[in-house]
Parts: sequence; structure tokens; C-alpha cells
Amino acid sequence: MERMKSTEDIELRSVEELMDVLYACRGAWDTPDRTGDPVDLHDHALQTAALLRRSHPSDKELQVAGLVHDIGYLLRPGDEAAHADHAAFAVRPLLGDRVARLVRLHVPAKRYLAATDPWHGLSPQSALTLELQGGAMTPAEARAFECDPMAEDAVTLRQADDSAKVAGLDAGVMEDWRPVLELVAAAQRFRPGGAGLPANSAALPRG
Ligand SMILES: [Fe+2]
Repeated sequence: MERMKSTEDIELRSVEELMDVLYACRGAWDTPDRTGDPVDLHDHALQTAALLRRSHPSDKELQVAGLVHDIGYLLRPGDEAAHADHAAFAVRPLLGDRVARLVRLHVPAKRYLAATDPWHGLSPQSALTLELQGGAMTPAEARAFECDPMAEDAVTLRQADDSAKVAGLDAGVMEDWRPVLELVAAAQRFRPGGAGLPANSAALPRG
């Protein structure tokens, strides 16, 4: 179930705002005492997005979902269990429903992989937080997850996420992602209900 909006929830309304958040990920970690994953949130974002660009070069939305999936750690530090929800809520107005949903599903996808793929490697920190996030899915939960039309993409994002924790690996610079974010944000703006067209418009340029 989608969580309710709280008064502390943050919505990002421009690529500039989002870039500021992504730059602020430099030197920010998934755990405040740095006992968690071995890369900061900035490098983790770049590595995740780079892996998805390589495996799915034409799916810009999947790539930017990978780029922003953990900004919840920065927006609401200490709320590990709901970090994906915070990030999804923040990016939805700017990047659209699909990106937001992929971001939100990166935790259920982890629970799915923990239940169904014994070879899928979790970092020690991810294994630690799995229980906090509900543990491995039950067989019934896994079957329900597989029926979600975004399940396959969510698993792809999660696999990239769990491979994107390599200390010292150069995955490019954040500025390279600005035009990709602009592209996805522009496509979202001109969808019905976006900022650029009335909700009942039939025009549908998609990114
Ligand atoms: Fe992550």
C-alpha cells in the first residue's frame, strides 16, 4: 500500500533542485556512522545508473530511477524502512509515475530476490536491513509481486543497485546525468496531468 503524505515529505519540482540533492549525496552515507555500504550515496547513484545505462541503453526512465533511488536516505536520514517511499514521493512530480514506482519497488524487489534467488548477493548492510524491511517475501507475496507489470524492471534496478557498491570505481560524473534528467522531466511535463498540458489532453509525447 502507498504510504500517506506526511507534512515533512519533500517534493522536488525542478531538475536543478534534484541535481542539488544528488550533489549533496557526496559524502553522505546510508548509515550516519558509516558502518553501512562502502561507497557514499553519490558514487552509489552513479554506479547504479551506469550499470542500467549499459544493460538498458534506451530506457532513460529506468536509468534515472537507478540514479535517484536512494535519495530518501538524504531527505529523511535515519528512516531506513521508508527511504524508498520518501524518494519516490520526492521525484514523482518531476520524473513521473513510472520512475517513482520503480524507486519505491527497489525494496520489495530486494525482498523478492531474497526469496527466489539464492545466488543474488546482498551487501552485509543490505542483509542487515532486510529484516527491517519485512524480510524475504513469502511464496504468496512473491507470486503477487510477479504479477506487477513493473516487477521485471524493478528486479533489474535492484540487481544493479546491489552491484553498485564498489569502492573507488569511477562511474562518471553527476553533471552527465543533467540532460537525461531534463529529458525525462520534459516528457513527464507534457503528459496529461503534467505541468505542460491540461489533464484531458490527448497529446502524449513520451520519453
Ligand atoms: Fe541502493
